[in-house]
Amino acid sequence: MHKMQLRPSWQFLLFLTCLGRFCNGSEILLLISCPRQAAEHCRTLRDNLRQQQISDEIPRDYNYAIKVHIMHELFNYWTLLDALPYLRGKTRLLNANTDWIIWCQHNTHVASLRGLLDQLHQRDAQELAYYGHALYDTEATIVHHFANYKDPTWFPYPMLSAGVVFTGALLRSLVELVALNAPNATRHSEFAIDAAHELARFIFDNIAPADDGSSSSSGSGSRSNNVDSNISISRDDNDFVDMLQRKIILKSADYICPWARVSPAWSLGSLETTAAAPAAAAKESKPVSCVLHAKPEMAAGSAVHCVHTTGAHIYFAIKTCAKFHKERIPIIERTWAPDAIRRKYYSDVADDGIPTTGTGLPNVPTGHCAKTLAILQLSLKDINELTDIRWLMLVDDDTLLSVPRLSKLLGCYNHTNHIYLGERYGYRLYAPDGFNYHTGGAGIVLSVPLLRLVVQRCSCPTASAPDDMILGYCLQAMGVTATHVPALHQARPQDYAPELLQLNAPISFHKYWHTTPEHTYKRWLGGALGNASSAHATAKDRRAAPLALNGLLQLPNQLAAGLEGSAKHLDL
Ligand SMILES: *[C@@H]1O[C@H](CO)[C@@H](O)[C@H](O)[C@H]1NC(C)=O
Ligand SMILES: *[C@@H]1O[C@H](CO)[C@@H](O)[C@H](O)[C@H]1NC(C)=O
Ligand SMILES: *[C@@H]1O[C@H](CO)[C@@H](O)[C@H](O)[C@H]1NC(C)=O
Ligand SMILES: *[C@@H]1O[C@H](CO)[C@@H](O)[C@H](O)[C@H]1NC(C)=O
Ligand SMILES: *[C@@H]1O[C@H](CO)[C@@H](O)[C@H](O)[C@H]1NC(C)=O
Repeated sequence: MHKMQLRPSWQFLLFLTCLGRFCNGSEILLLISCPRQAAEHCRTLRDNLRQQQISDEIPRDYNYAIKVHIMHELFNYWTLLDALPYLRGKTRLLNANTDWIIWCQHNTHVASLRGLLDQLHQRDAQELAYYGHALYDTEATIVHHFANYKDPTWFPYPMLSAGVVFTGALLRSLVELVALNAPNATRHSEFAIDAAHELARFIFDNIAPADDGSSSSSGSGSRSNNVDSNISISRDDNDFVDMLQRKIILKSADYICPWARVSPAWSLGSLETTAAAPAAAAKESKPVSCVLHAKPEMAAGSAVHCVHTTGAHIYFAIKTCAKFHKERIPIIERTWAPDAIRRKYYSDVADDGIPTTGTGLPNVPTGHCAKTLAILQLSLKDINELTDIRWLMLVDDDTLLSVPRLSKLLGCYNHTNHIYLGERYGYRLYAPDGFNYHTGGAGIVLSVPLLRLVVQRCSCPTASAPDDMILGYCLQAMGVTATHVPALHQARPQDYAPELLQLNAPISFHKYWHTTPEHTYKRWLGGALGNASSAHATAKDRRAAPLALNGLLQLPNQLAAGLEGSAKHLDL
């Protein structure tokens, strides 16, 4: 018999350690934002921090009380802005004595707590400021709501997985602001896409540096204080510099790094030092001591339980329409199709020459909800007749994939459970009706048991409702977590900061616009271009059965109407 083990409570684990003689000095709050599937990693990080508190010589005169708190993600805690009410509210984690808040993720590594404290000790906790590894866009991108579209390259935003340091002063201001404006805060979008960029922009737009002089170091003029010398402003634009004086932007901190000095093994030697990555290239050559850095995302659960998985275990349902049969399908056939034995093209028009399978539904310009549910039904029928399919992946006809990397990832999830993987977006996360969903173009993965459930339980409010959002809404209502996979991408390589693409070997990209798909496939997805595959696994064409969805889960009408309007926003 096993001895029952007392497990620490999942929800609010809190460790309070007093380092000074009095439990009274200023506080440092280390927050670990923890997705459900990474609980093990979060506990490891917490235990490691605890160990460092004991073993590292921390000078007494620092007099910091250190709190380490694992923040298990409820549906919206992955966006710091939406987590703020929680920090101030019932948990009282953030209070008037909090000098510093260090926001970590499960894959953040705190290489030296002592080193971090040394850094913080030199800085002013009363200043409205935050520090991190600065990421920059190379062009205006949809994943950042086309922010600063005229020149997005100067605007720094933090690499969350590397860790971000906030002064208590800044977070307290943010909390007040968010609480005041909760229902209609000054946000640019109802959508949460990249929490880091959205946070940086929110701070930029809504908070001004304190100018009463009482707070920040009075000696050195505030000019040099606010404009980080490392922001690459290569212009003599006084208006611009003046504008920045009145704003708060991320300060780049060289003790916070994108990785532990060397880049992750997968990309070593293959990184082109292009103009696209000046920040990354410059940082790497500097001998800094990285007290905080990101680690590559590990697959969920413990790697010990991973099972061998290949493309043959995955059913690929590819959503296309007649307009793109000639243009897009050949690209898939030339790139990732040979690795995806079980693939099927679902279209409004059945064409034996490709072949495509008809869904029996007319094409609509946006949304595709009815079509997608029909595809899921038809796919399930196929899967029932095949052996050993464990997963379904739903993609667009302009999605590029690395099937080997996908297989490796999926092998580490238990396919007999209800698993929903993708690139997670949020919709109205600050509101009670908010929800997470996986965005369609990046590819949506469902375990087969979950696919069955979706086919039984989910329905479309209207045929052209946005399919990915309705799916996410339905799954959230059923209590299924949207598990984020950072290697899946709704946009193109140039839409993401180079550091992010380097940290986790990419599994997907979406949209061919202004790209050469074959190049993307070789350069970023580790693909080799062979001959177009001739063997198509499931060639048998089928006519779709008429839709007979006994929808049990309905989207509230009001929300459904809102989503209709937002479909265009999503479908660039
Ligand atoms: C602890 O804090 C309280 C109020 O914050 C203060 O009155 C008291 O003097 C402090 N004690 C020590 C030992 O610093
Ligand atoms: C925003 O909030 C204000 C005050 O709370 C309210 O009067 C206003 O109607 C709200 N605007 C929208 C668009 O909801
Ligand atoms: C900022 O960049 C300059 C060169 O552009 C470099 O010399 C300096 O060390 C950098 N400072 C920091 C804090 O990274
Ligand atoms: C997968 O989950 C099922 C049901 O929860 C469980 O019985 C099985 O042991 C799990 N398999 C692995 C490899 O963890
Ligand atoms: C592709 O196929 C053609 C003929 O089937 C063959 O001549 C050619 O060498 C192949 N190319 C590659 C890269 O395999």
